[in-house]
Amino acid sequence: MQHFLDIHTTDPAALRSMIETARAMKAARRGAPRGLRDADQPLAGRMVALIFEKPSTRTRVSFDVGVRQMGGETMVLSGKEMQLGHGETIADTARVLSRYVDCIMIRTYEEATLLEMAEHASVPVINGLTNRTHPCQIMADVMTYEEHRGPIAGRRVVWSGDGNNVCASWLHAAGQFGFNFTFTGPPTLDPEEEWIKFARSKGAQVRIERDPHAAVAGADLVVTDTWVSMHDPESAKERRHNQLRPYQVNEALMARAAPDALFMHCLPAHRNDEVTSAVMDGPHSVVFDEAENRLHAQKAILRWCLGV
Ligand code: CP
Ligand code: NVA
Repeated sequence: MQHFLDIHTTDPAALRSMIETARAMKAARRGAPRGLRDADQPLAGRMVALIFEKPSTRTRVSFDVGVRQMGGETMVLSGKEMQLGHGETIADTARVLSRYVDCIMIRTYEEATLLEMAEHASVPVINGLTNRTHPCQIMADVMTYEEHRGPIAGRRVVWSGDGNNVCASWLHAAGQFGFNFTFTGPPTLDPEEEWIKFARSKGAQVRIERDPHAAVAGADLVVTDTWVSMHDPESAKERRHNQLRPYQVNEALMARAAPDALFMHCLPAHRNDEVTSAVMDGPHSVVFDEAENRLHAQKAILRWCLGV
């Protein structure tokens, strides 16, 4: 059994094999009704717990559907309703859940919660987003890029906006999949130095460019995310909107990218804040393919974790 905690802590060959498995499983289902079970049932007899300390649409539904397509069952739990919320330790919760279920997917605030769960669970633990990273999303995004444009290695990916948890996992992927990464945003919202160092240590070129138009020039892929994440205080909203307005992805900014550039956003999007509707619904956008590929990528992650 193996945990899937982050892209930078997972072997690059394993990451590549998960992308290939995801593509093959997606191809095998082409045109099938969403509720139809896959021909093979690698999760038959398995139970997966899906724990959420924060809201979710995509992660919750795609994991639930994916497990069922593979013949398994799920249990969706909110952190608040569990004894976790009343002071039972993460370690004890991990030990107890390991007696009932075969795998735990958890979306948390603090990364420490995820790591403690993984340390004390005797079943695989999957990171469904923390304040620091969102690896399942970027696995789906790499898959999506390659479906549309071929290998991502050597490509130029530009992130415009807040250097948040999703940006962090993009930096990890730059190192592990071998593409170049430019961050454009205000200095107070730079991605963590540790992640920049990781990507560079693996040979990725990482650039910080304050001018969004210069950053996006010739880009193969432009990515953004919400200006205010679930873990950010509501009081930060107004300041962030003012700081990040120049980094909005709009048609003028996309026009600077390569003619066949793609646009991605993990969703949920705040239309006409970080991205305009013209870009979201425009010819470069693959945002709903990304959302679909959460399903396929996570099915491959579950198979890898469970060794099935
Ligand atoms: N992109 C993503 O993780 O979406 P949810 O918050 O809806 O799960
Ligand atoms: N950065 C966002 C991603 C949501 C999927 C957040 O953490 O709220």
